[in-house]
Amino acid sequence: GTTLGSAAARTGRYFGTAVSASKLSDSVYTGILSREFSMITPENEMKIDATEPSQNQFSYANADRIVNQAASQGARMRGHTLAWHQQQPGWMQSMEGSALRQAMLNHITQVVTHYRGKIYAWDVVNEAYEDGGSGARRNSNLQRTGDDWIEAAFRAARAADPDAKLCYNDYNTDDWNQAKTQAVYRMVQDFKSRGVPIDCVGFQSHFNPNSPVPSSYRTTLQNFADLGVDVQITELDIEGSGTAQADNYRTVVSACVAVARCTGITVWGIRDTDSWRASATPLLFDGNGQKKAAYTAALDALNAG
Ligand code: G3I
Repeated sequence: GTTLGSAAARTGRYFGTAVSASKLSDSVYTGILSREFSMITPENEMKIDATEPSQNQFSYANADRIVNQAASQGARMRGHTLAWHQQQPGWMQSMEGSALRQAMLNHITQVVTHYRGKIYAWDVVNEAYEDGGSGARRNSNLQRTGDDWIEAAFRAARAADPDAKLCYNDYNTDDWNQAKTQAVYRMVQDFKSRGVPIDCVGFQSHFNPNSPVPSSYRTTLQNFADLGVDVQITELDIEGSGTAQADNYRTVVSACVAVARCTGITVWGIRDTDSWRASATPLLFDGNGQKKAAYTAALDALNAG
């Protein structure tokens, strides 16, 4: 394949990117987007504060623009995200207990129903576990509604769109020998054993010198896949430049290609200047939209699969 999307498709995978609705009027941006990418994740437009800014008043205009772009270029959509402790609208931030649980379930039902049939996979729950060595759930208003909030979220999503893949998504879950990774693994194992509807696990994979690509990365992907779920790399970016950055991209892409149930890779933006961490130059295209060494490494790794 001569593009990321076509190279990934050789082995039945997709290659995606995060997209911002506000950039869809930039022709350099949309040119690369439609040429290279076969999956789109809205960077912010499907988050809770965007889709339900006032309780029970839903706002889909910006997300719909991205869904329309995906349809026009034949790309699929990853929905991001239905239940998260961040980017909650003000009305939700101040809620607790059974009122919050009801509001969360209503949010999931409404949004998933609105997009029924248009979403390949949903990040149903995002970042529910704490960092560090505890392996505990993150303390949040959602967690305080009861330990079963995650499975309740997955059941509501399944009821609203039985055909969408339902994923748990998190960061710092790449190193097999970390408590957070083990805790998420045990949750997925428990969900599979009890029939809670989970189909996939997303590994955000935001890498930098403090959080480098771990040597166990491929093992982690394989071990989760062995639980009977698909795995995906969902928000990939790698701080750096030149050969070192390219080598890291090759390692990550090769790890996915080596795991049969690693069904796709999404990078968290197109050009370095589009990144949430622009100064880290972590993406595959430079600010002018030119391919970087990291691009060639990623493409070669896909074509080697
Ligand atoms: O759109 C407003 C603008 O109107 C306002 O003037 C400006 C002033 O702050 O803010 C703009 O909103 C910002 C938004 O990005 C759009 O640029 C928010 O402040 C800012 O917080 C928001 O950051 C996003 C971040 O999630 C918030 O948690 C990043 O774009 C987005 O890349 C990032 O994505 C997350 C994933 O969802 C989950 N995993 C980690 C990843 C990186 O943090």
